[in-house]
Amino acid sequence: MNNPKRYTITAALPYTNGPIHIGHLSGVYIPADIYARYLKLKDKDVIFICGSDEHGVPIKLKADKEGVTPKEIVDRYHEMIKSSFDRFGIHFDHYSRTTNPTHNSTASDFFKKLHDKDKFIEKETEQLYDPEAKQFLADRFVEGTCPKCGYEEAYGDQCENCGTSLSSQELINPKSKISGSKPVKKTTKHWFLPLDQYEDWLNEWIIKDHKNDWKPNVYGQCKSWIDEGLQPRAVTRDLDWGIQVPLENAEGKVLYVWFDAPIGYISSTKEWAEANNKNWKEYWKDEDTKLVHFIGKDNIVFHCIIFPIMLKAEGSFILPDNVPANEFLNLEGRKLSTSKNWAVWLHEYLEEFPGKEDVLRYVLTANAPETKDNDFTWKDFQARNNNELVAIVGNFINRVTVLTHKYFQGHVPEYKDLDEASIKALQLLNQHPDKIGDKIETYKFREAQNIWLSLARAGNKYLAEKEPWKSIKTNEQETKNTLYIALQISAALAVLGRPFLPITCKKLYDILKLDDGITWNDITDKAEYLPVGHGIGQSVHLFTKIDDKTIQKQQDKLFQNTDDKERIDHKPVKKAIDFNDFQKLDIRVGSILSAKQVKGSEKLLELKVDMGFEKRTIVSGMAKHYRLDQLPGKSVLVVANLEPKKIMGIKSNGMILMAENAEGLSLVNVPENAKPGDIVN
Ligand code: 2FM
Ligand code: ZN
Repeated sequence: MNNPKRYTITAALPYTNGPIHIGHLSGVYIPADIYARYLKLKDKDVIFICGSDEHGVPIKLKADKEGVTPKEIVDRYHEMIKSSFDRFGIHFDHYSRTTNPTHNSTASDFFKKLHDKDKFIEKETEQLYDPEAKQFLADRFVEGTCPKCGYEEAYGDQCENCGTSLSSQELINPKSKISGSKPVKKTTKHWFLPLDQYEDWLNEWIIKDHKNDWKPNVYGQCKSWIDEGLQPRAVTRDLDWGIQVPLENAEGKVLYVWFDAPIGYISSTKEWAEANNKNWKEYWKDEDTKLVHFIGKDNIVFHCIIFPIMLKAEGSFILPDNVPANEFLNLEGRKLSTSKNWAVWLHEYLEEFPGKEDVLRYVLTANAPETKDNDFTWKDFQARNNNELVAIVGNFINRVTVLTHKYFQGHVPEYKDLDEASIKALQLLNQHPDKIGDKIETYKFREAQNIWLSLARAGNKYLAEKEPWKSIKTNEQETKNTLYIALQISAALAVLGRPFLPITCKKLYDILKLDDGITWNDITDKAEYLPVGHGIGQSVHLFTKIDDKTIQKQQDKLFQNTDDKERIDHKPVKKAIDFNDFQKLDIRVGSILSAKQVKGSEKLLELKVDMGFEKRTIVSGMAKHYRLDQLPGKSVLVVANLEPKKIMGIKSNGMILMAENAEGLSLVNVPENAKPGDIVN
């Protein structure tokens, strides 16, 4: 949308069942904050909205595990997360909570309106039920094998391995997360949003309007969901934690957390508007408002398909103009994992690197997973701090300010008859605001920050060429000209760096005694922001080096904590079984004849296995752990009497035994003299 009247920028409401880590910052909150800060510096009418997502199953599960109420859990993490955001300079205009009364009424009214407009299908269906816990099992109450990719720890709402959005009934071998027992099926009534009825409209809206302006990863995911065909989706749950379904005869039913959470953006806006004497409707109902959702890639379906359908069905809201979701950030080559404690937690970083909040912001932007998954390493963190922030930016600012004090008592010197190099340097200031701005407006934050860095680089180069420490002895006017230009570049760095490094740039404003009202459009070669004669403050080091010992400590901590945690997290041994039950298992030696990748799956292989008495097809999730050419001829252990199952359209007859740990899967060794068909007891 060109020239919108105003912007509504949202960042995914984080779940309040644990602290947040660098993956959250990198994927969602830093890019969103850069975007919002930039637009505000351009004097646009912007609200930047977020809050805590305080409903849903994970919070209830955590509360039950700790023997406290869900409210206690969300109170604890709401404060913690909010404080991490504040300290990293993620500056929301409003940070709300989905347990607030405004949200309760907004979400209830939204549901009621859709109900009154007959937008739901009300139906009784069979759902998974835990007879021990006497509870229906939806979403994260249940775990099982993903029907799409074979991942064995898929949740009842989503497979985190392949990203597919699931319903609990689709899981293979489901298991209750409450009691560990095998669920039974039981009938219950729910309200469904018929997503399938919106397929044509979605096709039009996404393909016609957004094929070219949405990121390819976002567009591609949406397209494949729509192409696969959408199904009606239940928007209510049998649960005692959430927003009550606002209908009669709906006791014990609450709104599905993914129905209420995005409405949280609207209720958060309402609270902000109330406190600031504004009209919230302008930010959600005026077609001239640009709505942008910043999210991680696991939230794409909810923000690009389900929430827009809800908004469309309601009828009076605008739709998102863009949903610039990032891919995932890995850490030291492995997937970030909360349960394995493979993460850099923000509250810990803040304690261990006080005053280096912007360094993390900088590194995470420089390395942002904008187009593909990316890796954070402590070594790269150190290198970017030492070689870029300290050596390029800090060094430039320090030299300029120190020399200005040394030669001109801290005042911007008068310039006269600028030479070509100086005019060229000054002209950079004309180009940079737009160059950086264009990248930010197209959600290319890495490139934007890099262009900002290039200005500091150019400043250093200019100083090195002009050598004011030499010219001061022979040509004072030349030195005056050089420092005049270098000071203007410093000021431009302060202004144009604010979206990326807000805390540092505030310090730089203070050093240069720059008026806070100087913003983006003021940066031109007219250089009126630091006028001749203006006095600047004393220099302080904006950045300091990080040594090897500090980095080593972080690497050690990561590995140590993970090991500890893994020991603690070892899955408990399953309930004892009868010997007769064990004897029912028929495990045989097999020999792999051939292997090929299952189409559409990164994990699964289709294997032909010689079982001695017959040849079989078995689908197995080992693609990431063995190359195809390593497999033919390998002996394997096969559960031979497992009921055949269709996986990705292939009938799989048996299961290959593998050992699993944090590194992945490996085939269980078979004695050398064993032959296909041998029995394993
Ligand atoms: O993935 C998450 O952390 C979700 N709580 C995001 C919700 S975004 C929005 F819809 F509220
Ligand atoms: Zn999957």
